[in-house]
Amino acid sequence: MLELLKKRRTVRKFKKEQAEADTINKIVKAGLLAPSSKDKKPVELVVINDRAVMDKLKTCKAKGAVGLETSAFAIAVIADSEKSDVWIEDASIAAILMQLEAESLGIGSVWIQMRKRQGTFGDSETEVREVLNIPDNYGVVCVIAFGFKDEEKHPYDEGSLNMSKVHMEKF
Ligand SMILES: Cc1cc2nc3c(=O)[nH]c(=O)nc-3n(C[C@H](O)[C@H](O)[C@H](O)COP(=O)(O)O)c2cc1C
Repeated sequence: MLELLKKRRTVRKFKKEQAEADTINKIVKAGLLAPSSKDKKPVELVVINDRAVMDKLKTCKAKGAVGLETSAFAIAVIADSEKSDVWIEDASIAAILMQLEAESLGIGSVWIQMRKRQGTFGDSETEVREVLNIPDNYGVVCVIAFGFKDEEKHPYDEGSLNMSKVHMEKF
């Protein structure tokens, strides 16, 4: 697991190659396997394969959505905010588990933040809801862009970890 965690780096440039349905399925299952507070499972996913829709999603974010320009597919990570008071935590866990499953399958990814961000016309979350037809009671934590990596990133090195951030027994 630690090896996978060291290898996972944000990738924002992807090859033209499309991902197989089975690969996408595995990534989606990783998201659905995520734990949730009180087992309320408020998280839902919107899988996007359509290039035109990915282009629209890119405009929902004024900055930091470059990963959507070349992504093979994307997944919007949403959660029913009326089902759980900690839907943001639940959705975040589902998101990172999908990124890790993708990495294990050789697929790169980037988390594109939508909550509390601005798009070309206004609030990113509102814009994503419009593009994807998501009801108002669903929060949009992020859209993850996925694809075969077209940029090299060095894996993390355990030696460079800041161990002073770890406090033993007391801060
Ligand atoms: C909560 C969160 C929000 C992020 N938002 C964006 C984003 O909007 N656009 C983007 O390109 N990358 C985004 N990232 C990716 C980070 O920039 C990236 O994880 C960070 O620079 C560390 O690089 P690494 O993922 O290779 O370890 C986000 C990551 C997290 C965890």
